[in-house]
Amino acid sequence: MATFFKAGSAEDLSEKMKKVLSEDEIIFSDEELLSKNRDVQKNLGEFILNMLNETLKNVSPIRKVGGILNQTILNLQCGENLNLEKFYSKLEKVFTPSIFEKNERKSTVTEENEYLKIPVYQPELSGNEKIYVNECLNTNWISSQGKFVRKFEDSFSSYLNVNHAIAVSNGTVALHLALMSLGIGEGDEVICPTLTYIASANAIRYTGATPIFADSLKDSWQIDPCDIERKITDKTRAIMPVHLYGQVCDMQKIVGIAEKYDLFVIEDCAESFGSKFKNNYAGSFGDISAFSFYGNKTITCGEGGMVVTNNETLYNRAFHLKSQGVTNHRQYWHDVIGYNYRMTNICAAIGLAQLEKADDFIFRKRQLAKWYMEFLKNVPVTFQSESQNTFHTYWMISILVPKSNQRDELRQFLQSHGIETRPLFYPVHTMPMYSKKYQKFITAEDISSRGINLPSYPALSREEVKFICEMIIKFFKNTFAER
Ligand SMILES: Cc1ncc(COP(=O)(O)O)c(C=O)c1O
Repeated sequence: MATFFKAGSAEDLSEKMKKVLSEDEIIFSDEELLSKNRDVQKNLGEFILNMLNETLKNVSPIRKVGGILNQTILNLQCGENLNLEKFYSKLEKVFTPSIFEKNERKSTVTEENEYLKIPVYQPELSGNEKIYVNECLNTNWISSQGKFVRKFEDSFSSYLNVNHAIAVSNGTVALHLALMSLGIGEGDEVICPTLTYIASANAIRYTGATPIFADSLKDSWQIDPCDIERKITDKTRAIMPVHLYGQVCDMQKIVGIAEKYDLFVIEDCAESFGSKFKNNYAGSFGDISAFSFYGNKTITCGEGGMVVTNNETLYNRAFHLKSQGVTNHRQYWHDVIGYNYRMTNICAAIGLAQLEKADDFIFRKRQLAKWYMEFLKNVPVTFQSESQNTFHTYWMISILVPKSNQRDELRQFLQSHGIETRPLFYPVHTMPMYSKKYQKFITAEDISSRGINLPSYPALSREEVKFICEMIIKFFKNTFAER
């Protein structure tokens, strides 16, 4: 039996608690859950905190619930040894989604209601971000000196289990720095996928080298190792696999090819923080790897990047080039033309706080992907596959529609219902500066023309995912009914 509670009423919290613990199901009314009234939110927040502490007392201590918003508990700080799987399964039981199955979501949402706007991504800054940033401001350490840069680098390298991490100002310069540390330049060729964000190819061009494109695999959408091998020439110096949308490339095959032809591997991990191939993190396979912490990335600094490597020589070279090529032995003495690619202490402070919550973000993003797959199981769309060897972090949960001419129509339909989406990247070889030589990449072009990135930020609720999927289902019903 379901119980409805009035979060804003004067009913005694302990009374509510007793009811919750003796009922299988607890349902808050839509108005309460969607309420923007601070008192209602506060009451509900306190109630949830008490209830969770009671319900989960044998699982792990819950220290704080910051508030709730759109059915999502924000700012939940838990004990370090919390078993997340267990915790979330309990949470799901407590917050039964059945209310959303009974009540049409539209009944609580009007056109002028902001709630309806679902962005494709938004960062979640509900951890220690403010505390750490305030520490920078209070101590005057706002530039690229300061403890958070070092702390972020150290925590990042331990997380990935690599020897060195160098914080930089964004992911594009991380790639540039990685390539330069390997000495790649004029006359060299670097093989990368054509289906990628423009920064991968541009960073190769910045060094004077030429990006040589390879096609993608049909199911994982990652670079095709067979096509890499076909593209190797006398000038090839390196392979740059790009782990797209949270999935990872087949690193066993790619590292094998690199060893066979004596090539370097630079992993572009901008979109795959936390993803794994055969239980090892993306970024730990290459000679050197690059990450991005742009605002829409799995962990963010606003703008930021990281170079990681196990090789001490590469680390020293990257570090040297990042700071204007200044020497260790004499102040203001520069022995190469270097760059200012430093990260500020403020960005590192945000990055460190984000890293503390990384596993939680990834867990919730994987949960979102499961919900999308569940709700869309009878719809003719294809998801980017996760293979036995990979751990997908679903940076962007993405689908392919059956026909390319449905892609923009579906996006527009979703937009008209307040749902923002993105098209998959256009293959780089089709862009003016890279299309001088006519080239065709059948799989990458096909994936790109049919692909959509769906809203994928960790704070999305099951109800919101359901609403998005209902709209997708409606679009396909209309489309097929018209035929
Ligand atoms: C695959 C890929 N590489 C590189 C970058 C560049 O990162 P940034 O935007 O931080 O410069 C991005 C960023 O979105 C990306 O998706």
